Amino acid sequence: MTQTLLRGRLLSFVKAPESLTDSESYRYETDGGLLINNGLIVESGPYAEVKAKVTADAVEIDHRPHLIMPGFIDMHLHFPQMQVIASYAANLLEWLNTYTFPEECRFVESAHAQRIAGHFYDELVRHGTTTAVAYCSVHKTSADAFFAEALKRNMRMVGGKVMMDRNAPQGLLDTPQMGYDETRQIIAEWHGKGRNHVAITPRFAITSTPAQMEATQALAREFPDLHIQTHLSENHDEIKFTCELYPEAIDYTDIYARYGLLGDKTLFGHCIHLSDREADAMSEAGSVAVHCPTSNLFLGSGLFPLKALGRREKPVRIGVATDIGGGSSYSMLRTMDEAYKIQQLLGERLNPLESYYHMTLGNARSLSLADRIGTLDVGSDADIVVLNAAATPAMALKMEVVKTLPEELFLLQTMGDDRAIVETYVAGVAAKSAI
Ligand code: GUN
Ligand code: ZN
Repeated sequence: MTQTLLRGRLLSFVKAPESLTDSESYRYETDGGLLINNGLIVESGPYAEVKAKVTADAVEIDHRPHLIMPGFIDMHLHFPQMQVIASYAANLLEWLNTYTFPEECRFVESAHAQRIAGHFYDELVRHGTTTAVAYCSVHKTSADAFFAEALKRNMRMVGGKVMMDRNAPQGLLDTPQMGYDETRQIIAEWHGKGRNHVAITPRFAITSTPAQMEATQALAREFPDLHIQTHLSENHDEIKFTCELYPEAIDYTDIYARYGLLGDKTLFGHCIHLSDREADAMSEAGSVAVHCPTSNLFLGSGLFPLKALGRREKPVRIGVATDIGGGSSYSMLRTMDEAYKIQQLLGERLNPLESYYHMTLGNARSLSLADRIGTLDVGSDADIVVLNAAATPAMALKMEVVKTLPEELFLLQTMGDDRAIVETYVAGVAAKSAI
């Protein structure tokens, strides 16, 4: 088996950075080597040392002067919303009813789902994202297309068929029994196949009856190791309507808690307007609040208190994500640029080390997958992104005055997009240049 040896500046995180000068939080190798064999990183360190350990034939790829990092992780997006992105709406509920639900109805057709799946993975890879956590549509066909394409490309993906049985068009509704049965089928057919992970996916409390929430609870009990994903506290009108639908619950978070859905594998999209009680409940359960900055700004949903949630006495675990198609970019660089601006508006500082931590190891930890992805450690999956901070003339000009690694990262985040992604390796194979 031929090995691949990558050369360049290696950057990966070992813990959450505490400040802009926290050099203990990352490993940076200015002339680094990564040896890849059979989809895994088998050596990582100074180039000369790694090179000396190469035994078999190795194809050497010189990425100098670029940065080599773990592939980006996108913790929340919607595979059937590639043609919803850039829809003009006043707010979340109008956007869902006017554009999103009608569009998702088309995913009952396998041919359509398969076509969009091809574009979906192309777009992720083009933007340096190697793992994503996705909602499919309600139709099993959409989950089949999503997982089949991930298998074909050998990508580590998390996804689920959404369960929804009310408050949406007829073509987008299942029933508690159907949602349960089809999710079980999808788990049996796809979970653990290749690098696929199935997530139990009740869309949100507005579109699930109490009977469907009970079916979700049954799935969560039967498959305690699986991720659960849903939406929580995104928009004030949504919160009000949700609480009217579940009057016995003390707040939005309590609805999910009552159905046993608060746990350390649960990923809650948005979580913008949580009360202290809700944040405490999330923290105690180890649930993850997934920040989707471009979406929150695009839909006018609100400003997510990322820093404040992290420094509470009972801190809340954080993920970061694009939320396509409420979000407006596939790029995790663009996403963290908007995350930065949201913290600015809140009078907080999100430093660039933190941003890159969140896109890589932070998200991997929030997914409980840090033993496989989000690092350049020996033994992890060789999912890698190569970044060029001088990708455009304007970036190259700014690079002339950049002196430090954090400055370079900040430039990449502020001005970068898919043009800054030189290559994306999926399980050791160059995937971006193959598109
Ligand atoms: N809440 C329920 N469904 C959705 C969705 O598709 N996008 C967003 N942003 N919020 C939701
Ligand atoms: Zn979403």
